Amino acid sequence: ANEGDPNILNLPAWSTSLGQPVATHPYGMPSKFEHQLVRRESPGLARVGGASVSFAPLQGLFGIITPSGLHFERHHQGWQDVDPTRHRLMINASDDSLLKKSKVYTMDELMRLPSVSRIHFIECGANTGLEWGNVAVPTVQYTHGMLSCSEFTGVPLKTLLEDCGVDYKKARYVLAEGADGSSMTRTIPMEMVESGEVFVAYGQNGEMLRPENGYPLRLVVPGVQGVSWVKWLRRIEVGDMPYATKDEAVHYIDLLPNGLHRQYSSIQECKSVITTPSGGQTLVAKGFFNVSGLAWSGRGRIKQVDVSFDGGLNWQTARLEGPVQNKALTRFNINWVWDGKPAILQSRAMDETGYVQPSYGQLRKVRGTKSIYHNNSIQSWKVVENGEVTNVQVL
Ligand code: MTE
Repeated sequence: ANEGDPNILNLPAWSTSLGQPVATHPYGMPSKFEHQLVRRESPGLARVGGASVSFAPLQGLFGIITPSGLHFERHHQGWQDVDPTRHRLMINASDDSLLKKSKVYTMDELMRLPSVSRIHFIECGANTGLEWGNVAVPTVQYTHGMLSCSEFTGVPLKTLLEDCGVDYKKARYVLAEGADGSSMTRTIPMEMVESGEVFVAYGQNGEMLRPENGYPLRLVVPGVQGVSWVKWLRRIEVGDMPYATKDEAVHYIDLLPNGLHRQYSSIQECKSVITTPSGGQTLVAKGFFNVSGLAWSGRGRIKQVDVSFDGGLNWQTARLEGPVQNKALTRFNINWVWDGKPAILQSRAMDETGYVQPSYGQLRKVRGTKSIYHNNSIQSWKVVENGEVTNVQVL
């Protein structure tokens, strides 16, 4: 700030008077000065908001947890605020030999059972889907904002299936079904359930789930694309083969260059993005910047993130803010001194399996340009002399 800054010389009235009482807002709200940091719907994406998506404002978030009020939303047929006293979860089987008995649980019954709390990212398979062929949207909110990360609390699905007497030798899949009008149904392989990672969640960031995110019950399928995280979860059917429902046979499939479709490609591969600075922002002046971003992998932990300031010619290793968690967002930071000249910022993540996030050139060679889902390419942000940052693609 300049010498003689009135903001330091003159005391504002509020600092010499009584502040507002406790519980003025029984449920706390963000500062009124933060009103721009909100979920946004991309104009023209869907005809009705009830079948659309709102994107999380990644450019303004710190650390790895998405505040529940800013968690992205994707509804196929709108959201409801469901009465938890009337909500039920039914567990049954496609064949009597797979399960000893079918059961119906109330929320009270579920909440008595041994619970787990785990931090996981959820990413829609269509995240970055608009960018397959070319640059389409200006900001990280729209390129990558179908991504959020919360601490979820609930009961491992394994506990419920075992309570119903599942026969793991015969029962190899489950079908998860939502209670909303979209008939959202997804097949989950039993290995994921048996590993204990899949759970039915009622908690999100220390409180009950938000209605938009499936209150009072949703499925958490760590590492798997968002569509399998069925909201308003009402039924789990145990089966012995994949169900090929509409949302796995026709949607959420990958069109390949040879014209064939790839199905059940549900794991979200390793990906990262620089969130600050990012498209639509302007660097205030040359000099020091903390460049910050997010990395994640559906296959486990992030091992390393490298950052380039010259469009991929040279790379430097960023600092990972620990603890680095399994199938959760990982925050990375790196120091940068901007010399005022044009630059292209990129991040490239590697996960614990050794898989390295691909460039657009590498990804398109295998996947073509006509896909919607599973674009995990390296994102590039171009900085020009006046400090403006824009979305560009580098092969
Ligand atoms: N579950 C039901 N019942 N209905 C839905 O429309 N949308 C799915 C999934 N679960 C959906 C659903 C999709 S496509 C995604 S990406 C995630 O929920 C989004 O979860 P969120 O709205 O909590 O971000």
